Amino acid sequence: MEFKVGVIGCGAISGNHIHGIHQAENARLAAVCDIDETKLQKAAAEQQAAGYSDYHDLLARQDIDTVHICVPHYLHAQISIDALKSGKHVLCEKPMGMTLADAQAMKRAADESGKTLTVCFQNRYNGASLRMKELIDGGSLGRVIGGSAFVCWDRDEAYYASCPWRGSWKTEGGSVLINQAIHTLDLMRWLAGGFELRHSTMTAKRLADAIETEDTCDMLLENSAGGRFVFYCTNCASVNENIYLHLILEKGEMHMDGARLTLITESGASLEDYSTGKGVGKDYWGDGHDHFIVDFYRRLGEGLPPFVTAEDALETMRVMDAAYHGHAPARHR
Ligand SMILES: NC(=O)c1ccc[n+]([C@@H]2O[C@H](COP(=O)([O-])OP(=O)(O)OC[C@H]3O[C@@H](n4cnc5c(N)ncnc54)[C@H](O)[C@@H]3O)[C@@H](O)[C@H]2O)c1
Repeated sequence: MEFKVGVIGCGAISGNHIHGIHQAENARLAAVCDIDETKLQKAAAEQQAAGYSDYHDLLARQDIDTVHICVPHYLHAQISIDALKSGKHVLCEKPMGMTLADAQAMKRAADESGKTLTVCFQNRYNGASLRMKELIDGGSLGRVIGGSAFVCWDRDEAYYASCPWRGSWKTEGGSVLINQAIHTLDLMRWLAGGFELRHSTMTAKRLADAIETEDTCDMLLENSAGGRFVFYCTNCASVNENIYLHLILEKGEMHMDGARLTLITESGASLEDYSTGKGVGKDYWGDGHDHFIVDFYRRLGEGLPPFVTAEDALETMRVMDAAYHGHAPARHR
């Protein structure tokens, strides 16, 4: 079966989605939507796709099977729910709404419609991520009993000024955690076998005058094996540094530094390099969108659940929601 696809939101990330849709053998881009007339006309002309300025009109098209949601965070839940109710499968950009309640409502809409909902955590498809997951699931290194992760990136005032929905609690729902570091939090949670938040701190250091949300966050988390995980993310770094993730297992360690993975086991240390040099868009987004989208359509075609299920994505939102709404300083609630 060939899936006819609509992309809602023709901003920065939409190019990665359109590229991925073109890579999928069983998907065809049929329509695009944006409230910005210039972006809409450009995307519709370049893609020779139908253009809609109101997403309801795109959803009303019976022949469209799937929609990709590439709009600002505050619209993810509503548009996903409307799309699922219209009988479409949904590939929603991260985050899964802005709160746990949003994510639960999205999952409920998917369950009730019988349609597939996935959330774009494309970094799970990076070579180093898949290798770590394979080793953990293989069991020879024992359980994951601790770790740490650092996301140190650079976002300046101009970045926030260029897109007014960013830097606001109402429209972005947070900043460095919900927008940039969410991928690494999701990755760590996935590899750790799930964890619970024990403590979080949110601060605005460099960007306090430019945004109302956090530019720096740290967390303490704990998994069912009693392992402690520390997580630090900031948009205050001088450059976009490699993401660093360290996992401690009962019989070894894993150090992911960007695309390089160092494995330490009883038999010694080894370095595996998963750099592809094939980044689409900014390198630090990874080149996972193609893999994510191609695999999404392959699984949909074969009647399989998506790689990232709604239930799974919801767990990352549960931890993040606790960090923002359970432990955040009063002025951030
Ligand atoms: N997975 C990743 O690595 C990754 C990377 C970057 C961005 N993103 C996510 O992608 C989403 C979009 O981010 P972006 O950087 O492309 O933002 P953007 O502001 O560049 O694009 C958003 C687009 O949505 C349009 N839009 C707003 N309201 C709309 C509506 N009601 N109907 C239709 N279109 C509407 C805007 O006009 C704009 O063109 C966000 O959720 C962001 O977190 C994900």
